[in-house]
Amino acid sequence: MQAVKNYIEINKQRFLDELIEVLRIPSVSANPAHKADMLRTAQFVAEAFLKAGVDHYEVIPTAGHPVVYAEKMIDPKYPTILVYGHYDVQPPDPLDLWNSPPFEPVIKKTDIHPDGAIFARGSCDDKGQVWMHVKAFEAMTQTNSLPCNVKFMIEGEEEVGSPNLAEFCKNNKERLKADVILISDTSIISNDTPSIDVGLRGLSYIEVEVTGANRDLHSGVYGGAVANPINVLCEMIASLKDSNKHITIPGFYDDVQNLSDEERSALANAPFDLEAYKKDLNIADIEGEQGYSTIERTGIRPTLDCNGIWGGYIGEGAKTVLPSKASAKISMRLVPNQSSEKITELFQKHFESIAPKSVTVKVKPHHGGEPVVVPTNSIEYQAAAMAMKKTFGKDPVPTRGGGSIPIVALFEQILGLKSVLMGFGLDSDALHSPNEHYGLFNFYKGIETIPYYFSYYADLKSNQ
Ligand code: BES
Ligand code: MN
Ligand code: MN
Repeated sequence: MQAVKNYIEINKQRFLDELIEVLRIPSVSANPAHKADMLRTAQFVAEAFLKAGVDHYEVIPTAGHPVVYAEKMIDPKYPTILVYGHYDVQPPDPLDLWNSPPFEPVIKKTDIHPDGAIFARGSCDDKGQVWMHVKAFEAMTQTNSLPCNVKFMIEGEEEVGSPNLAEFCKNNKERLKADVILISDTSIISNDTPSIDVGLRGLSYIEVEVTGANRDLHSGVYGGAVANPINVLCEMIASLKDSNKHITIPGFYDDVQNLSDEERSALANAPFDLEAYKKDLNIADIEGEQGYSTIERTGIRPTLDCNGIWGGYIGEGAKTVLPSKASAKISMRLVPNQSSEKITELFQKHFESIAPKSVTVKVKPHHGGEPVVVPTNSIEYQAAAMAMKKTFGKDPVPTRGGGSIPIVALFEQILGLKSVLMGFGLDSDALHSPNEHYGLFNFYKGIETIPYYFSYYADLKSNQ
């Protein structure tokens, strides 16, 4: 491992310079205007794999954005690690809230990142974390210390729900054969408290539209006598939670897996500083489902949130109007045992049933995804725990991530493979938000830790 370490040390600056280059390409998967940038990013990543030492790489078209595939097979007798990540990023909007342009990376120190952090869209989620894998792989190959076969599948549609990846996996089962999937697209508790996500939430994402009168109306002439779809929509959304912040959709909690007292107290052992949490977000208080801690509210409990709402007049000045329509995007985060399809149906039925006769509603399901749990007693997980212990000097805490990576459940279904979520970001790195950043400490820690994962995994597997 000394040779790998030396290689990393000597090439540190170049690794960062290359990351900066890939962060400059605006690979926004949601926006069709960036189609060419997506292809450019895919090619950039593929060529980086080639320079790093893969035997084979391809940019494979899909019905949407291409998948970057690369591999280095050293010996079929050795285990194979399949690394998954995504090169697409969330839209950078709202642009005016960025302190520096989202695709012009800059390095700045922050309270949490005294060694500096790189500010750019995708720096943490997930280009920065993908880059750790490219560079860790380079360090292992260039020093002849790669202990396993490795395959890379870096997709361009994670941030839009991976609509074409399941199909890709079905069509490429042979090519994707491996022993484990390794993913760095999650967070650790803090830079001195390493952790590994052993769960991800599922998702049901829905768009609703409420229509009142057949046209916009003068709000003086009709106001008070005809339903205002914005008011109605707000009342309907507000009614989806009761005063204990419990979701009111009938049957919503039926399948929720409740944790035992021991499991709950194990979760409660993870360090959490409520004051620091509030300070970071500049909020005077938190809110959430009664009877559960903050860690539980994001880790083991489902939730429902409105992600966007629009209707009526939002231009300069005032316009007195009763709009004909109002809409909202609503998402529910799901926990083990809940099914995205079933929850979407329950939502639809309930939402239609609570609509007053004065309006009509349309419910349109978007993407979904199933929750995930990762067993901690597997060698796949153990190798990650050992690797983090080695580089952080502390045992990592198993945690439940609140976010979703919908393809992970499908990997298990389609490829029969378990995933390990060895991420290095921080929840406070402003993912999906203006001023997203990634700590240099985290970037280099990832590059240092990944080779240990490979080596421990190869050892554990050969002793199995
Ligand atoms: N990397 C995140 C998911 C994540 C972040 C998990 C932090 C755990 C901790 C991923 O890119 C993401 O944003 N997923 C989306 C899924 C959606 C677009 C289908 C999410 O969670 O909203
Ligand atoms: Mn991600
Ligand atoms: Mn994301």
